[in-house]
Parts: sequence; C-alpha cells; structure tokens
Amino acid sequence: MTTRVVLAYSGGLDTSVAVRWLMENHDAEVVAVAVDVGQEVEAGGWEALRQRALAAGAVEAVVVDARDELAEEFCVPALLANAKYEGKYPLVSALSRPVIVRHLVDQARRHGAGAVAHGCTGKGNDQVRFEVGTRALAPDLDVLAPARVWGLTREESIDYAERWGIPLTVTKEKLYSIDENLWGKAIECGVIEDPWNRPPEDVYTLTRPRAEEPRELVVGFEAGVPVSVDGRSLTPRALIAELNDVVGSYGFGRLDMVENRRVGIKSRETYECPAALALLLAHADLEDLTLERDVHHEKARLEPRWAELVYDGLWFSPLKRSLDAFIAETQRYVTGEVRLRLEPGRCWVVGRRSPISLYDHDLATYDASDTFRHEDAEGFVRLWGLGVATWAARQELARPDDAR
Ligand code: ARG
Repeated sequence: MTTRVVLAYSGGLDTSVAVRWLMENHDAEVVAVAVDVGQEVEAGGWEALRQRALAAGAVEAVVVDARDELAEEFCVPALLANAKYEGKYPLVSALSRPVIVRHLVDQARRHGAGAVAHGCTGKGNDQVRFEVGTRALAPDLDVLAPARVWGLTREESIDYAERWGIPLTVTKEKLYSIDENLWGKAIECGVIEDPWNRPPEDVYTLTRPRAEEPRELVVGFEAGVPVSVDGRSLTPRALIAELNDVVGSYGFGRLDMVENRRVGIKSRETYECPAALALLLAHADLEDLTLERDVHHEKARLEPRWAELVYDGLWFSPLKRSLDAFIAETQRYVTGEVRLRLEPGRCWVVGRRSPISLYDHDLATYDASDTFRHEDAEGFVRLWGLGVATWAARQELARPDDAR
C-alpha cells in the first residue's frame, strides 16, 4: 500500500537519493520539504532545489521560510539561556532541527502523511533531534531514516542517482560536511577529521577577515531580547544577519573543538558563529549588571543543563519547558545597552548601561560621594568568619597524638 512520507529535503546528494529510495523501498509517495533557516542556497535558488526534488521523483516539493521563526523562537531563547554546549558551542544545528521538525509535522498533517523521513546517518546528533522531536509533537507518525539503512558509500549514492537520472550538483570528492543557519555554520569531515590538523583557511566563509579599522557597536536589549544596533530597531532575524556580516568581517566567531556527541562519539568540530558569539558576550555582560546575585548564580548553574537538553534533542520536553519559565522570569530585568568593540580577530565588551542597573555608583565608589556604611562591615565580617575562627582555634587540640 502506498504511504505518504514527508522528507526533510536539503537539495544535497543524500536527501535526493532518499526520495527515490523511499519510493523503491517503502512504496512511498514523497513530499519533499525544504526549510529555509538562513543557509546559503545554490546558484539557482530555492526553485532549482524544488525542481531537483521533483526530478528525483517527489510528488510535491515545498519550500518553507522559517527564518523569522528560527530567530525569534529558537535563537533568542538560546541567547536568553546563554546557551553553549560544553561551554563553547552555541548549538547552531541543534536549534534548527526542532524548527524543521515542526514544519515536517505540519506538512505531514496537510498532506495526510503517515511518516516523516530525514537524511541523517546513524552516527550523528541530528537523527536524535529529528526523531525525538517528531515523537514529542506527533507520536502517531513513523520516522524513517533511509541513510541509516541503505549502507551506501558516497560513490554508490552518486551511482544510484545517475542510474535514476537524478540531477546532482556534486562531485565524487566532497571536502566537508556543512550545516548552516542564521546562528552559524558547522563544518566537519575531510582533513579536519584529524583533530591535530589546523583547519585550512578555506573551511571558513562567514569569518574571512576583511575589516581592519577598529569600530564599536551598541547592542540594545529589552527583557533579554536584542532589539537594536546603534539605536536602529531591528527584528531578531535582521539583527543576527547584520551582526554575522559585521562581526564576521573582523574574522571573529570561529570555534575549533572536540565535542561529545549524544551517540557516544567524540568528534572534531569547527564552527563559525560571529553573531551568536558576539550576542552571547553582550547578553551575558548585561546580566552581570542587572541580575541580582543569587538569581545570577542560580541561572549560571542551570544554563549548561539547558544547552545539554537542546543539544540532546530534547527541545520539546518538560524539563526544558520548566527551565524556560525560570529563565523568562530572570529576563524581565535584562534591559539596557552593551558596547562591543571590534578589532581584527577580536570582539569584546567595553561598556554597558541600563536604566534598571543594579550597579550603584555611590555604593561602589572610593570617592567622596560614597554612601556605603563602612561601620557595618566590621561586625558583618566578624560573624561571617566566626565559624572558621572557632574551628581554627580548636585545630591544635584536634590533631591526633602522633602528629603533634
Ligand atoms: N556537531 C554539531 C551538532 O551536533 C553539528 C552537526 C552538524 N550537522 C551536520 N549535518 N553537518 O550540533
């Protein structure tokens, strides 16, 4: 019996082959869904990509523009959570998967499909994100993963495509595996699979150094959300795009790391995330100014957990949702502006201000306007150290005989 399958389609070799493979092996009618998350698109644009899906045999090919949704509902929450997996990686691919899943499920409903499919292999995190995400949103749908089943090498895939007349834009030699969206770009495979090899300059596109004159950018935040650059109001998507361009032109935003995938593999990853890393610096700095100490410290403890959940494919999960509620409450006060300075290869914070800053100059200053009650400190410090002082005085008595 023919079943309808909604396939997450990228236009690349694997998902093009997957269209035909699903037809042959699952007697499927394939609806190809390409989601625009801000990735660079081929010369012919989205229409060329649609046509390739149809040429491969899809009954329908749909392109969905999810850029605003990704920026507002995924990148912004990640920023509010100061999210960096293993303290470094701002979750680029992990943020786009749940938005893609949402559209796959939506298209499955529209087209009466019984399954969704993706082109991920069995070795990565993205399969986890697609499948766990789909099960959370639509437990009734099956999930198919052709590339995990077919066991084709890259060359065999190309032969398969040629045999079925699937038009391709690839060569047998592929240098890198790339995944890209508004929040950055992940680059894997090829010579950088050896963690000792320095990534060749040609892996980088978003952070090719072009600018030389130092400059500053003022990023405005309202309740944690970045809303302006140098006083110009921008949507999250436009603001991220602009920062990718400007910050990237200084060659800032590169990461080179070995990370722990959910499936137990350590992998060498290179990333370019100019806007994400600059915004994370600015946002965290504004929190230094506006969050009360205990809230700030507790939030810092929860942030790695948030990043881990999202990395592990648990965007749609009860713990993630509960952490979001906590984070949302903290962000009510994160309003103000941050000055970022850019110099070749560098981006850092050089100033911050807020109408509801908790920095009180008259408490902090050493000059004549000081209002701090110095006499309060003496008793406070004595009580603070009282326990330790009592313990220290007993040390002599507590030491065992042979140690005296
Ligand atoms: N290691 C990163 C992650 O798991 C990047 C994955 C990139 N995906 C890809 N298909 N190249 O989030």
